[in-house]
Amino acid sequence: MEGRTISELIPAGIVGVGSCVPEKTLDNHDLEKMVDTSDDWIRTRTGIIERRIIDDSMSTSDLAAQAGLKALADAGLEPEEVDLIIVATASPDMIFPSTACLAQRKMGIKDCPAFDLLAACAGFSYGLSVAAPYVATGDYKTVLLIGAEALSRFVDWSDRNTCVLFGDGAGAVVLQPVEKGYGVLSSHLAADGSGADLLKIPAGGAMIPGDENSVANRLHSIQMNGNEVFKFAVRALPKVAKRALHKCGLTVADVNYLIPHQANQRIIDAAAQRLKISPQKVVSNISKYGNTSTASIPLALDELWQMGKLKKGDVLLFVGFGGGLTWGANVVRWSRSLSSRRDKPT
Ligand code: UT7
Repeated sequence: MEGRTISELIPAGIVGVGSCVPEKTLDNHDLEKMVDTSDDWIRTRTGIIERRIIDDSMSTSDLAAQAGLKALADAGLEPEEVDLIIVATASPDMIFPSTACLAQRKMGIKDCPAFDLLAACAGFSYGLSVAAPYVATGDYKTVLLIGAEALSRFVDWSDRNTCVLFGDGAGAVVLQPVEKGYGVLSSHLAADGSGADLLKIPAGGAMIPGDENSVANRLHSIQMNGNEVFKFAVRALPKVAKRALHKCGLTVADVNYLIPHQANQRIIDAAAQRLKISPQKVVSNISKYGNTSTASIPLALDELWQMGKLKKGDVLLFVGFGGGLTWGANVVRWSRSLSSRRDKPT
């Protein structure tokens, strides 16, 4: 174990979970009509069967607000009890104001700080690592952390290399003090800016502001060197997972569920194999939602919780990775019993 960990202060645990996905589904057969691809290629190369897409009336902050309110309801809290809102997103509504401020307004929360966190698909892992110390130090009692994406707005629908991968959605967790030995036990984050060009949306910022050329050259859309990102992810995931486990004195054998970022089923399988973790402990819902970036981990967590699969004391390992390059992992000892659920499974 390395040094002191935040769990030695006030333990910060997940006391509420919620998620929101748009109703509209886009399946692989729909994509066959849009680009030169096939259901078979997408299924076998990525594991994705369908993804959710927002309609014109919605944006990232709508998904964020709905997931946030559901997480608060799950925790049995009112919106006005939130002390801090953090939204991790790679597809903000605007450069500013932050999507966190826009979601705050939509949730009817008036008096608390709110900010966005940008770490691409590692955003939820980064966010948990940033959020937990606020609770641990006593600065804020109730922190709402949301991962929310409307990536469909940033996809080049004529690029088969990327358009088959991404989907929209949001997941949220509420953090509060929990009993000793539970909650966020450790986090470990990493970044390597030398890989910044491997996965990016080039235009729309200060470097390439929007103009006719940026639009004509599709520079406002996601560009990715898939092969290189794939290799990076398979190497990074097991390494950072082990670092986070080591920090809190646990090993892979202690983990009940690995919830990795849902980017590609083959990445999940290869990384799980390298980690030597049993496939039964590896959570995957990529077939239904595709890659929802910062939302994928809390979305999968919410599914587990809704299915009644989590029990108090379970050790959860979250691992995110993505553009930047960024990657990170968190170890959480689940602090809730099934009986604490508002809406218990029947
Ligand atoms: O969330 C952030 C992190 N993102 C990721 O982790 C994504 C990482 N990368 C990947 O998941 C994979 O690299 C992809 C799914 C993007 C691509 O899979 P791949 O097995 O690496 O395929 P490839 O790029 O090596 O392409 C193989 C072939 C190529 O054709 P040729 O050159 O062999 O003739 C591609 O043009 O597959 C072709 N291809 C497609 N074919 C049908 C690429 N996309 C498609 C497609 N449908 N949608």
